Amino acid sequence: MVSRDEALSLLRENSEDSVFEHSLAVSVKAKSIAGKTRENGYDVDVNFVEIAAILHDIGRSKTHGIRHGIEGAEIILKLLGDEKLAGVCERHIGAGITKSEAKALGLPEKDYLPETLEEKIIAHTDNLTFGTETVSIDKVTEKFEKRLGRDHPSVKRILELNNFIENLLSTTKQEAKTIEGFGKEVMEKDVLNKIKWDKQLNPKDFSIRYIDRTSGPLKQVKYTDIEINGDFMKIDDSMIPMHRIREIRYGDKVVWNKRRV
Ligand SMILES: [Fe+2]
Repeated sequence: MVSRDEALSLLRENSEDSVFEHSLAVSVKAKSIAGKTRENGYDVDVNFVEIAAILHDIGRSKTHGIRHGIEGAEIILKLLGDEKLAGVCERHIGAGITKSEAKALGLPEKDYLPETLEEKIIAHTDNLTFGTETVSIDKVTEKFEKRLGRDHPSVKRILELNNFIENLLSTTKQEAKTIEGFGKEVMEKDVLNKIKWDKQLNPKDFSIRYIDRTSGPLKQVKYTDIEINGDFMKIDDSMIPMHRIREIRYGDKVVWNKRRV
């Protein structure tokens, strides 16, 4: 793959100043998001994200219209023959374009949805970067709603991509796996027993929130401070009926809550 310097000079030769500055800003931010994602245990190529983000808008040397993604991919294939980099150009617009939307837009009929984690991070960062400035997701949806209409599926897709990336940044792969493992447990008792018996889990990581009185805030107790006793949990000398449990947490992540049942 090209180096960062090579990518920058390629962009310099093929773009106007505003595109150059924008691409550089997207690259710096996307690299940082990719780095945090990697720290959270997900397999993402940070170096590729940095380089690909530099080149994502190179198609704007041909057009600023919706075709700039495809044009960018063509330029990259011609100059570098790198399909992975070309894929980023082709699939970075909004949160991607579906086959039927592509047809309506007069683009070659196929899906242009970001596929890899790297492609998703770049598309998302690009959405949140107006010029060189980082904006809120509300500003992003406002912009797309104005352009495409409130109910356009692209707006929903951009929000979903935003949530997806936010999740990668707030939840480690290990946490995500643990939370997913509780997906099928419906009763609080099953969850408490799973924590007790599942060898993959450490009871020290869990806590329980329950109603102590009819009003007032929920009480929190460490899993290791309770004892399961039939349909009750025993805390010191009190027997608390399990139906008073409202939430069971793994660290600060909720793995079970009453509302879900
Ligand atoms: Fe773009």
